[in-house]
Amino acid sequence: MGSLMRRYWLPACMSEDVAEPDGAPRKARLLGENLVVFRDTQGRVGVLDELCPHRRASLVYGRNEECGLRCLYHGWKFDVTGAITEMPSEPVGTPLSEKIAARAFPVVESGGFVWVWMGDPDNVTPFDPPIWAQAAAGNISVVKVHADCNWAQVLEGSIDSAHSSSLHSTNMPSAETVASSTATSTAWLRPSADKSPRLDVQKLDFGFRYAAIRTPIHDPDLRDYIRVTVFQAPFTVHIPPTDRYRLSQMLVPTDDENTMFYWIAWHTDPAKGIAQDDWRRFCGAEVGKDVAAVTYRKVRNAANGYLQDRAAMRAGDFTGIYGIPVQDMAMWESMGRIADRSEDRLGSSDKAIVTFRTMMLRAAQAAGEGEDALTPPIALSARLELTSFEGLVDKADDGVWPRIDRTMMAT
Ligand code: FES
Ligand SMILES: [Fe+2]
Repeated sequence: MGSLMRRYWLPACMSEDVAEPDGAPRKARLLGENLVVFRDTQGRVGVLDELCPHRRASLVYGRNEECGLRCLYHGWKFDVTGAITEMPSEPVGTPLSEKIAARAFPVVESGGFVWVWMGDPDNVTPFDPPIWAQAAAGNISVVKVHADCNWAQVLEGSIDSAHSSSLHSTNMPSAETVASSTATSTAWLRPSADKSPRLDVQKLDFGFRYAAIRTPIHDPDLRDYIRVTVFQAPFTVHIPPTDRYRLSQMLVPTDDENTMFYWIAWHTDPAKGIAQDDWRRFCGAEVGKDVAAVTYRKVRNAANGYLQDRAAMRAGDFTGIYGIPVQDMAMWESMGRIADRSEDRLGSSDKAIVTFRTMMLRAAQAAGEGEDALTPPIALSARLELTSFEGLVDKADDGVWPRIDRTMMAT
């Protein structure tokens, strides 16, 4: 799976994490490798191996000044390309500084993230911006939370429409008054009370999309309530939007047993979208309050039972756990660091999960053997199938995808 992941640009952190030139460097751990991310005096972002090539001290503690990151131990200094610009512990004019460099990764900033290329340095795939990069910077809001489990069990939550009708039922209640998913400051109202969606999965060259088809409250004979989720391999999911913002997630492998969960709410229309602070408040993922600064570890976590409130449950709250992402985390992390899938008993609403598992196992095997696997992620952002969807759709006898595509193009 690591070979497959290294065929894609990976988000090392949010641009916000390294907002200031000469600000604090940040550690990023991706695919089991430790990196340091820093923004230099001129605003350029560098991503290097965390450990200094001299004697392996961490550069996260380094001084970030005058266009370079200086290791505290003996003062070697590196620019964003990894080149050594000063070597104070060695004699003046030492040839060593030409022979040694820090391992540096190609970097792009786009859509509020710092992206790195960790694959073959001689074969860098051109960077394709994420779909939310179409929105203005002020209209891209990001929730970031650390999860103490494998990335795949996190991702399987994002492609699992059925759980939203139970786990998130307090935050996503059905309402007779709405015609589509309607965002308030505390909930997303939906025009269906159906808890058992029928799933229709369509495989695509870059992943798949599926329609979760529910019976609507009004006109159930004439219409379906359809929610389309897109899986963009290897770790991005575009989930159905609300009336105010579109929604994407990245479930990025920190290593086999840890994941960085990113949830992006965005819109290209400046009149829509949700402010960063409001988005984090809605999700119960405010930095410094619900999640720790720098590490993004949760205040409500397994060690304190996610502060589950049984009195609130008796009073009508379904989970007694505050915040959609933390409700999810409680489920994902309770499975263990790496869940044993041989014990699963799958049902018909797990169709997308089955597609994910077979598709990714096949792709990982092909990548491991150096073969083509899924489509190279180039110019995907222009494709219609990348767009998630939700709404009431007239029933017709020409199949679910033609119906949905026609409706998407009309909106
Ligand atoms: S370990 Fe970094 S300069 Fe010596
Ligand atoms: Fe969820």
